[in-house]
Amino acid sequence: MATGDIGLIGLAVMGQNLILNMNDKGFNVVAFNRTTSKVDAFLENEAKGTNVQGAWSIEELCSKLKRPRKVILLVKAGDAVDAFIEQLVPHMEPGDIIIDGGNSHFPDSNRRTKELSAKGLLFVGSGVSGGEEGARHGPSLMPGGNPEAWPHIKEIFQKASAQAYGEPCCDWVGPEGAGHYVKMVHNGIEYGDMQLISEAYDILKRGLDLSESEIADIFLTWNKGVLDSFLIDITANILKFNDDDGQPLVTKILDQAGQKGTGKWTAIAALDAGSPVTLIGEAVFARCLSALKEERIRASKAIAGPAKEAFKGDKKQFIDDLEQALYASKLISYTQGFMLMRETAKEMNWELNYAGIAKMWRGGCIIKSVFLSDISKAFLKKLDLESLLFDDFFNKAIENAQPGWRRVVAQAVLWGIPTPAFSTALAFFDGYRSEILPANLLQAQRDYFGAHTFRVLPGKENDKLQPGKDIHINWTGRGGNVSASTYIA
Ligand code: 6PG
Repeated sequence: MATGDIGLIGLAVMGQNLILNMNDKGFNVVAFNRTTSKVDAFLENEAKGTNVQGAWSIEELCSKLKRPRKVILLVKAGDAVDAFIEQLVPHMEPGDIIIDGGNSHFPDSNRRTKELSAKGLLFVGSGVSGGEEGARHGPSLMPGGNPEAWPHIKEIFQKASAQAYGEPCCDWVGPEGAGHYVKMVHNGIEYGDMQLISEAYDILKRGLDLSESEIADIFLTWNKGVLDSFLIDITANILKFNDDDGQPLVTKILDQAGQKGTGKWTAIAALDAGSPVTLIGEAVFARCLSALKEERIRASKAIAGPAKEAFKGDKKQFIDDLEQALYASKLISYTQGFMLMRETAKEMNWELNYAGIAKMWRGGCIIKSVFLSDISKAFLKKLDLESLLFDDFFNKAIENAQPGWRRVVAQAVLWGIPTPAFSTALAFFDGYRSEILPANLLQAQRDYFGAHTFRVLPGKENDKLQPGKDIHINWTGRGGNVSASTYIA
């Protein structure tokens, strides 16, 4: 008789930990791996003494599962997911559920939901965040896909996930690839947070000449306030960590950032949606610039910047300003991330629960923070909030942060210390709160050289400048009166 509540394919570190986590929560898990010797090794070691069952073929895995069968794939995103789905399908029956828990690109999850639905099977693409530790003790889980699957997996998912403020860090995200979409944005925000923290470190080190240990103490203080978060906490630990010779290990790490692509996907999705997600974009480009190590070494010798000047102001005040700059920039990053999700939801016809998404990120995941509780409160107050900056709490917070934020960016520019994320956040903020932007001149230029047309500003209409019309002006008297076709971004 089938006794397995859920099957899991992929016994790498995330898979093993998630199995042990689900086992702890009282579920009977059946484990399978393509190289079956890993199943034996897992049962003899990590899973010894648990209720975990092994399977040595896909057929056996499916035969050991109660109906509707539920199988989680924790394998490398891409072709491996499709290959396992293909192997599972012949052993499944209508109503059975295949869950992809990898970092898959959301268009693949859109496609897989449709393909499996045509076969009577239910596909779920779930974001899983929190690394090894999260998988073992409670990750943030972001499932989306075929909604009929949710009632069958809800209990397992919500029990296995992290719990924050008495609530599971897991809820149904939306149809098709919505779960993987939200995980992708989570990762983009993760890139932004990490870049902001790194810029703060650089300013404290190169600007104020503080040591790693002194900077760690500052992060520890910040971690007791509005910036309280996993990433600030681990940053303090990293800065305190010394190599055998007593030197901070971080100073020995090659300053070239790697990336696996989820931040890049977020930036591409933002460009595709015409959504100004500038901070994540800058965070991705900052990693790309860091990768040009050899070229940077040559440039550092050939190109002069401002002469180094010791900071003459009030250090304590400046460190407080930096905390505010970090907070305000982070708020801009999340504002942009939620704007992107709203834009995509509109385009894809998805109904996303933004308060629920913020709640899912309050625990278990890499971007978990106290700040996310305030975001969920803002969306609970107004479900269709178009921007976090319109929420009273955040509106006040950014107003308070503004003077310090501006001082930090200005000082960094004078020092010649790069702050792509802090600066772009401030530029976005000033652009967003500007009733008039110089796009009028830009439109005139487009019309001047390419007859791309423009529209008249309300209140400035006349016989020539008709409201609601695409207008072309013969600016030089030489060109014709025929306009080119146009589109508004
Ligand atoms: C998580 C992380 C994880 C991601 C790593 C590495 O939520 O647990 O987002 O999914 O893969 O953070 O990402 P990069 O290699 O692109 O920095």
